[in-house]
Amino acid sequence: MTGTLLMSLVSCLIAISQASLINRCDLARVLHKEDLDGFEGYSLNDWLCLALVESKFNISKVNENADGSFDYGIFQIDSHSWCNDYQSHSENICHEDCQDLLRPSLLSTISCAKKIVSGAGGMKN
Ligand SMILES: *[C@@H]1O[C@H](CO)[C@@H](O)[C@H](O)[C@H]1NC(C)=O
Repeated sequence: MTGTLLMSLVSCLIAISQASLINRCDLARVLHKEDLDGFEGYSLNDWLCLALVESKFNISKVNENADGSFDYGIFQIDSHSWCNDYQSHSENICHEDCQDLLRPSLLSTISCAKKIVSGAGGMKN
């Protein structure tokens, strides 16, 4: 009995630790619901492709860059320009705490990504 409880507790914890991955269809649903206003001129597929190449759909991905800044979240948004991680100077153009870009709701990271993509360089940014 105790063993069974322990097993289900362990599998719950494993499920939680893997919750950083969002499946492609769920992400499509969230992006659609957030109505990206024409997706800033890109298609829903372009946005899904961006999430795939940047993070393989890992909402909590953090990666250090050569210049010491970090990339955050499913779209790998750079702390050098876009969000504040309190480690180095950031322009913080999105007015976001970088940690907020890792939230499962994706609200902050989507609105920041929209801001980035709406710039002259589009998705190349
Ligand atoms: C997602 O990214 C985090 C932080 O970079 C990493 O620790 C975690 O293992 C990744 N998850 C998967 C399932 O790859």
